[in-house]
Amino acid sequence: MKTPIIAPSILSADFANLQRDVEMINASEADWFHVDIMDGVFVPNISFGFPVQKAVAKYATKPLDVHLMIVQPERYIKEFKDAGAAVLTVHLEASTHLHRTIQAIKAEGMKAGVAINPHTSVALLEDVITEIDLVCMMSVNPGFGGQQFIERTYQKCADLKEQILRNNSNCLIEIDGGVNEKTAPLLLQHGADVLVAGNYVFSAANPTTVISKLKQLPKGYTAKR
Ligand code: DX5
Ligand code: ZN
Repeated sequence: MKTPIIAPSILSADFANLQRDVEMINASEADWFHVDIMDGVFVPNISFGFPVQKAVAKYATKPLDVHLMIVQPERYIKEFKDAGAAVLTVHLEASTHLHRTIQAIKAEGMKAGVAINPHTSVALLEDVITEIDLVCMMSVNPGFGGQQFIERTYQKCADLKEQILRNNSNCLIEIDGGVNEKTAPLLLQHGADVLVAGNYVFSAANPTTVISKLKQLPKGYTAKR
């Protein structure tokens, strides 16, 4: 049975006990650490920067999946690599020369991801879909954890999956925002590969059990062709 990649979002961790929370994820069935970088310009919130990412990387035994919610992300590609990123995702809306940015990320030896806001059509990914390793589909407006899931995401996810199959791309679909026990099974049926979960994991009485539940869900997409 194919199972999803689970990426708990550090944004919802207890920053005063970051090492403890990183070690909890190390010991769990999670696959990646999702690291949300916000600059207060692209999104109306500021999260944390290189020193905190380095602190996570110091204890993490799993890859860091870094989601840049910053303007002009091409300015900091090497810095995020040096701070331990394995996957580096930039927003389509924040990078004027997206194709060049993708090549620069790959040249640093990282997997390249492109994130799209809820209003951005998946059709805009068609000309880079064979160049990238991951699409981070925002299922909330980026900036905060714990927001309500936008239902339109299911259809967008299936449309993107069809685009990926049509282009023989190996790109993964990651869903970010409002993932929980209700939305996760449906997302996997619509073609999702990677589930980011912040609030659902870290507000749980037992986060390890919640991660395990997500990891056991089957990936059930059936092509429409
Ligand atoms: C939102 C971030 C998300 C966030 C998800 O801007 O990109 O990664 O942590 O949080 P939840 O799972 O709580 O919706
Ligand atoms: Zn994110």
